[in-house]
Amino acid sequence: MILLAYQTPREWVDAVRADFDSFLQDHAANERKASAAAIQMAVQHHDIPPLVDALVELAGEEMDHFRQVYEILRERDTGLGQDSPDPYMTKLHGAIRKQAKSDFLLDRLLVFSIVEARGCERFGMLADALEEGPLKTFYTDLTRAEARHRGLFTRLARDIFDPTTVAKRIETLVEIEAKIIAALPLQATLH
Ligand SMILES: [Fe+2]
Ligand SMILES: [Fe+2]
Repeated sequence: MILLAYQTPREWVDAVRADFDSFLQDHAANERKASAAAIQMAVQHHDIPPLVDALVELAGEEMDHFRQVYEILRERDTGLGQDSPDPYMTKLHGAIRKQAKSDFLLDRLLVFSIVEARGCERFGMLADALEEGPLKTFYTDLTRAEARHRGLFTRLARDIFDPTTVAKRIETLVEIEAKIIAALPLQATLH
């Protein structure tokens, strides 16, 4: 299991609650991108059927999350908003080794798992802070989904690669992720 090396401070929740519509727009973008990334990865690794099965399933689930966030935005008379780059994801993708095909696959699986772990941490913080109501229920459910996805990707990595190699690489990538996220401003975005 992935244990993150940086804990998000409470001020992040305050920043989100101060501009919840912007947060929802960013959240919607993250779900949409997660779905697209899962499909892209399934196609690129078409020769590993268990991986493809898991990724196709995941893509559908992430798209369903997107649809749910979109519905919340509509209820608040807010649209999807403009697409904007996500420096967290860009920097994290920079840590993926691209020379050898096996390193590339391992790093991608682990980066997916770390992103899910971060989503799980932050949605959980938000769910705890929200008053009883549909939004709290929504973010509580999402926290559980992200925890499941975090486990899915580490399990897939361990099925394909030597567990010691996986554990070592998790340690390195978790440290890299901690440095990346700690350097980003606390604002009304998921990352
Ligand atoms: Fe999701
Ligand atoms: Fe997810």
